[in-house]
Amino acid sequence: MSAVTSTRVVLASRPHGEPTQDNFRTETIELPDLADGQVLLRTVYLSLDPYMRGRMNDAKSYAPPVEVGDVMVGGTVSQVVESRSLRIEPGAYVLGYTGWQSHAVADVNSLRAVDPNRAPLSTALGVLGMPGFTAYAGLLKIGRPKPGETVVVAAAAGPVGSAVGQIAKIHGARAVGIAGGAEKCAYLRDELGFDAAIDHRAEDFADQLKAAVPDGIDVYFENVGGPVTAAVLPLLNFFARIPVCGLVSQYNLVSAPEGPDRLPAFMGLVLTKSLTVRGFIQSEFIQELSGDFERDASKWLAEGRLKHREDVVDGLEKAPDAFIGMLHGKNFGKLVVQVGPEQD
Ligand SMILES: NC(=O)c1ccc[n+]([C@@H]2O[C@H](COP(=O)([O-])OP(=O)(O)OC[C@H]3O[C@@H](n4cnc5c(N)ncnc54)[C@H](OP(=O)(O)O)[C@@H]3O)[C@@H](O)[C@H]2O)c1
Repeated sequence: MSAVTSTRVVLASRPHGEPTQDNFRTETIELPDLADGQVLLRTVYLSLDPYMRGRMNDAKSYAPPVEVGDVMVGGTVSQVVESRSLRIEPGAYVLGYTGWQSHAVADVNSLRAVDPNRAPLSTALGVLGMPGFTAYAGLLKIGRPKPGETVVVAAAAGPVGSAVGQIAKIHGARAVGIAGGAEKCAYLRDELGFDAAIDHRAEDFADQLKAAVPDGIDVYFENVGGPVTAAVLPLLNFFARIPVCGLVSQYNLVSAPEGPDRLPAFMGLVLTKSLTVRGFIQSEFIQELSGDFERDASKWLAEGRLKHREDVVDGLEKAPDAFIGMLHGKNFGKLVVQVGPEQD
């Protein structure tokens, strides 16, 4: 039998600032034969997420960088083509971390079964997967919204932000979303039921935000940093909580922003307003909360209380462009690449 090949996107060079097509290279490799306990996978969906920008840098972080020449990392939903494990049969669907490639050999222990009858396969990468869990854990463990409080979240039309706002509403809070452009803001208000949605690109963004939170802000779910955070800070209430989830406006920066050092004023605010500012990586809560999340999110999804939107890009070759665009808001909903058909 001829060897199985995989088409894959590797990191060709490290970006300086915004990534470009030149930082990626597509190549085809032969996959090794399966060892006991391994499976051959055919990728169906690849998740594109902002954290991947950090992995392209040669910098110390909570996870090691992708080495130049290595396949880009990423969550995937795949179908098992061949199995050398009694635990999993050909035809089954699995959630894995096999990256930007058409096929992969993986240890069965690194995979989780995905039931295609429970929900559409791609939701395992979005509303029922890592981004949904991030919203759930960060909001409920750190944000702790109470009924009647005001929760503000940016990147609100994305998978994390849209779940944050809706879960805040489920818990009786007011949800105010910040997003780029009128279409995303209308979606937040009209389809997801946010109480208000503000376009961060509007010239009077700070004034509009102030008007949208007449009782101040009790929870600011931090996804973006930069000018959005600067507009939020003066509106925080005493004892406000800030789950620091992401800082996507800063991922492509190559130097510190100009202007006076803002740290002393920020620390003064933390002190005088008794703020709780707590960063987190979703994986720290998996053991404690993944069961609760699976129960609640599936129920809310089935009841129509947790809605979601996907932005599906067709073909692995489009992954670099789609990823670059996501870092400045071209995606509308959870960005996934359809690498292969659901049914072979
Ligand atoms: N801590 C964790 O464990 C964890 C896990 C998952 C995700 N995250 C973080 O959560 C955040 C959201 O992730 P996601 O997967 O839901 O991404 P996403 O919302 O699908 O994509 C990122 C969005 O950020 C917005 N954005 C980009 N530049 C911006 C800027 N300068 N100012 C304001 N908004 C900007 C864009 O939306 P607009 O068009 O609305 O501007 C863009 O669509 C990211 O910061 C990510 O790194 C953290």
